[in-house]
Amino acid sequence: MSTVFREIEIDYGTPKRVSDKTVTLDIDGVSVTVPEGTSVMRAAAEAGISIPKLCATDTLEAFGSCRLCLVEIEGRRGTPASCTTPAEAGMKVKTQTDRLAKLRRGVMELYISDHPLDCLTCPTNGDCELQDMAGAVGLRNVRYGYEGDNHLKAQKDESNPYFTYDASKCIVCNRCVRACEEQQGTFALTISGRGFESRVSPGQDQPFMESECVSCGACVNACPTATLEEKTVIRIGQPEHSAITTCAYCGVGCGFKAEMKGNTVVRMTPWKDGQANEGHSCIKGRFAWGYATHKDRITKPMIRKSISDPWREVSWEEAFAYTASEFRRIQAKYGRDSVGGIVSSRCTNEEGYLVQKLVRAAFGNNNVDTCARVCHSPTGYGLGQTFGTSAGTQTFKSVEQSDVILVIGANPTDGHPVFGSRMKKRLREGARLIVIDPRRIDMVKSPHVKADFHLQLKPGTNVAVLTALAHVIVTEGLLADEYIAERCDPKAFGEWKAFVARADNSPEAMADTTGVPAELVRGAARLYATGGNAAIYYGLGVTEHSQGSTAVMAIANLAMATGNVGREGVGVNPLRGQNNVQGSCDMGSFPHELPGYRHISDSTTRALFEDAWGVTLNPEPGLRIPNMFEAAIGGSFKALYCEGEDIVQSDPNTQHVAEALMSMECIVVQDLFLNETAKYAHVFLPGSSFLEKDGTFTNAERRISRVRKVMPPLGGYSDWEVTCKLAEALGYPMPYRNPEEIMDEIARLTPTFHGVSYRKIDELGSVQWPCNESAPEGTPTMHIGGFVRGKGRFIITQYIGTDEKVTRMYPLLLTTGRILSQYNVGAQTRRTDNNQWHEEDRLEIHPHDAEDRGINDGDWVGIKSRAGETVLRAVVSERMQPGVVYTTFHFPESGANVITTDNSDWATNCPEYKVTAVQVMPVTQPSEWQQGYTRFNKLQEQLLRERESADAAATVK
Ligand code: FES
Repeated sequence: MSTVFREIEIDYGTPKRVSDKTVTLDIDGVSVTVPEGTSVMRAAAEAGISIPKLCATDTLEAFGSCRLCLVEIEGRRGTPASCTTPAEAGMKVKTQTDRLAKLRRGVMELYISDHPLDCLTCPTNGDCELQDMAGAVGLRNVRYGYEGDNHLKAQKDESNPYFTYDASKCIVCNRCVRACEEQQGTFALTISGRGFESRVSPGQDQPFMESECVSCGACVNACPTATLEEKTVIRIGQPEHSAITTCAYCGVGCGFKAEMKGNTVVRMTPWKDGQANEGHSCIKGRFAWGYATHKDRITKPMIRKSISDPWREVSWEEAFAYTASEFRRIQAKYGRDSVGGIVSSRCTNEEGYLVQKLVRAAFGNNNVDTCARVCHSPTGYGLGQTFGTSAGTQTFKSVEQSDVILVIGANPTDGHPVFGSRMKKRLREGARLIVIDPRRIDMVKSPHVKADFHLQLKPGTNVAVLTALAHVIVTEGLLADEYIAERCDPKAFGEWKAFVARADNSPEAMADTTGVPAELVRGAARLYATGGNAAIYYGLGVTEHSQGSTAVMAIANLAMATGNVGREGVGVNPLRGQNNVQGSCDMGSFPHELPGYRHISDSTTRALFEDAWGVTLNPEPGLRIPNMFEAAIGGSFKALYCEGEDIVQSDPNTQHVAEALMSMECIVVQDLFLNETAKYAHVFLPGSSFLEKDGTFTNAERRISRVRKVMPPLGGYSDWEVTCKLAEALGYPMPYRNPEEIMDEIARLTPTFHGVSYRKIDELGSVQWPCNESAPEGTPTMHIGGFVRGKGRFIITQYIGTDEKVTRMYPLLLTTGRILSQYNVGAQTRRTDNNQWHEEDRLEIHPHDAEDRGINDGDWVGIKSRAGETVLRAVVSERMQPGVVYTTFHFPESGANVITTDNSDWATNCPEYKVTAVQVMPVTQPSEWQQGYTRFNKLQEQLLRERESADAAATVK
């Protein structure tokens, strides 16, 4: 056989700095100085010399298996692998000699002789490192045929819906195995067999889908051949162009390269220079993007007079004109405050900014809110009160310098998987771990990671546990006295210290309430206070409680008390649920705040916006989402513009939400799909996915990253354009030519954004706010040298138990959360092959509780709360503690929020999703409403009949 390979340039990527000390050596006559510990291969790359390689990459530790990167070193015998040989001072290295060339060609010839030579039909043709390296070592012909033993008939594993594993192309370089271990931390792959029999094996020689593989795609990225290959590349072919953009799923905000063929996405690959993810990804961002062109997308505007009428497709012009006339009619009849808007935290910063501007300037009120209301609004309040600003204090990278990691109310391996992997890597390096969670989440024990303390508290008792931790720190003399004296308000500290020192706040006194043995609380407190750099990461398991804001403040208290704010490796880090929760809060999407967290009652701020927008602003805060529902049921709130949020599925107490929506006269839903909320809508405006628009997202680190349009909007307009057109129809033109102009206005009017521009983001890759005159390149770590509010403020955190108590009728506590493969209400992920991992919500229940009720794994069980009832299948699991059950909420037919109540946080109205008293009983089938005839339908019919008879009566008069 004879094959010609092309010459290529080898990309060695960004150099990895390993030490402050340097060594100088000579490589091919070029003198080069590199940090001590740098490999000879990397040193050569620094000197502009490429050494052929196959098993080495910049993202993984060197392995030294392929023997292609051999070099000669003066005074040393043999030809060592340059990837595993550290550079030393005075070394003289030769990378190009006849002997080396011959050796490399020989090695490559052996690889190629056991590799299918169908380059021209191979999906990676032109993007294959084996092909490239064959060219680099000058291999022109392969002398050996396929006569001897080979792997060419090895079986393909097609079990994973997103990628294939074609063992015939595997060169056993181990990169996939190392990527799974080092980057992802799942350890799902091994090399089984020895010598010639060696092969990559998922789990115990299982198909990928049956193994522990989490489909993060790290193995596919790492593979230098077409062994592990995206099925979309095989189907569509190699991409032709690409753009860097930001994932639209969770608050990690991973940078991705959208690789395209024309207007079709071929694949999304994690961006190596993405500062939030550094080349890693999870199954959602990497593979679950097919929803963007799913057949369910609605691409034509639609209107209907009544929700019992069929939808009628109309032109955009008619939809805008109809909406504007309805909103103006309703305001004329019911008053200026009878309308409002909700904008999802999935939307871009620019879209969020426009919606609050539309409400404030065109509707003339402050009735604007965002779904951050139902997730992290307590973070805004709690961190604002204690530190002076509503934001996480660190970069994700900061965890690499943490000695102690405290995770409370968060499940990073499912909810924020890319950061979860980073956290696990630090734990494998030796950092200590405290987990505070009612469930035994994966972080408690996973390969090579084990929590030092798991405080398995009862749902609803976070404040009691956090205050007990503080009690130990205060009473055992573990306070950071100097730090507190220098940086914190002494009066507030004194009052707090006296409060937490009280005997009734001790771990012993709290043990019955929290269910956590006192010695565990004491051990965790000592570790957090004395273990070195200690960082807290928390999620919705902290905020979605009746004392959510109190718990956030208790966390801030702990960090201040131990001096763990204001440097790398420490801090208070809310893990934001959605891609742009931080941004939507920053953009003034709450009814009481203008962009930059400035209260609407502040006349100076109002004057700034009045001047820019040419209107007079209402100084009174508007309605929060739950207030909108109350007002709707009460008859004073009649029209809603809802962009990107499925409130019927995502908000608590679904019946209540449905009743509120049916009480309104005009509901406008702007979304990708006809979601649950659209069932109650009168106008449907097609939304655009993150692939169809320009803009920015701000992640949990305050990092502002670009979202780039890679395909035209399927409905014709990007979301920001729709809001502008609607404003124009309402008589308030917002004539932006592009989202960059919107960001320029945000930067002009918002002090923490003064230095932000698309040009700067393009230059730096991303930028963390505050970014202004005093921090022109942004602020990775906050509160260095002092708190934003001046002196850090300790706040007393009296534990008050939730009203949602177990009773004889409702003896179990239900708590909720997310799973890796699905995302929130599932509108996106349910329309992808991610369903193959999780096709329905299930109820996790402890074996004792299951046995008491005669429930077996897989049985249908009815769950009843005082708000409602639903039916799910049971999973009997020891991850739960007795007395607590758990479910996800990704499927509308599960109706998890049919049973959650409308209890909420005392400060922010964030719903108490995490605690619902329920009874669970075996049943034989799904409940009545789940079978198609919903109680909402009944209520809907009844209300429609009442409205019709009221209209008829009015006509007769
Ligand atoms: Fe060094 Fe493979 S690249 S041995």
